[in-house]
Amino acid sequence: MRKVTVVGAGMVGSTTAMRLAESGLADVALIDVDADLARGKALDISQALPLTGSPSRVVGGDDYRLAEGSEVVVVTAGFPRRPGMSRADLLGRNAEVVREVVGSAAAAAPESVIIMVTNPLDEMSYLAWKVTGWDRHRVMGMAGLLDGSRLAYFAARELGVSPSQVQPTVLGSHGEAMLPLPRFTTVAGVPLDELLPPEKLGELFERTREGGAEIVSLLRTASAYYAPSACVARMVEAVLRDEDYRVTASVLLDGEYGISGVFLGVPVVLGAGGWKRVVELPLEDREIEGLEECARLIRSRMEELDGWLAGS
Ligand code: 2OP
Repeated sequence: MRKVTVVGAGMVGSTTAMRLAESGLADVALIDVDADLARGKALDISQALPLTGSPSRVVGGDDYRLAEGSEVVVVTAGFPRRPGMSRADLLGRNAEVVREVVGSAAAAAPESVIIMVTNPLDEMSYLAWKVTGWDRHRVMGMAGLLDGSRLAYFAARELGVSPSQVQPTVLGSHGEAMLPLPRFTTVAGVPLDELLPPEKLGELFERTREGGAEIVSLLRTASAYYAPSACVARMVEAVLRDEDYRVTASVLLDGEYGISGVFLGVPVVLGAGGWKRVVELPLEDREIEGLEECARLIRSRMEELDGWLAGS
């Protein structure tokens, strides 16, 4: 059986482990600084498997040797947002955690693909890439799939169609510079901006941008986990099955869209070994400007991280 490691046994990590285990696609190692929490959740997930018919084995603990042989490592460890916080507010607190756990996971599973989930997403993906020093195709962040899924849900409700019929495209950052693209968001092939007036589109985009915060304010002590874990599990599946699945992920650009040296949400083709190539959509000038604006914002936070790395 193939193996996937999930670092962080909080709600996103444990629901991801559960989805992967129940799919029967891989054995799962759940690692957390709180070894008993990880063990307990691994046991609980395992005890559901006789009912789901999955042959996966799930183990938990704080020892990174559990990650040996993993083809994919999912990193969810870190502090979640509290009501009123932006994802960027987590930068300093989570950088420390990410540096440590990514270093340990990469040493234990040196051939793996890393999918980052810890916020602020684009910046933590950059940090993970820096820490590993790996080829850029093997480190990415999960965000565009989640933001797109939220937009698809809101648009489907508005239009009275099944959410699976909405093909969303949300690029940019997983944060205030999120860039939903109505021309490339289609409903059974028809662009969203031909189906809804601009004011309604604006409302849907705003709710998508604030989708994570809306849930944080309702849950109060946690951030979203059902939709995030569904998105991570889908990306892991694409890697394990070498699907060449087209998905928006946060990746390090090297000239694509005219941008270099920044982690940014763009469509990629995902399969064995990580993302294989960036898909360059035929963007109009104003859409490119939107993407450049996101890149400027993320670059400034990446520079903050560079300063922190150099000083510590
Ligand atoms: C979200 O948007 C946790 O960032 C994640 O819900």
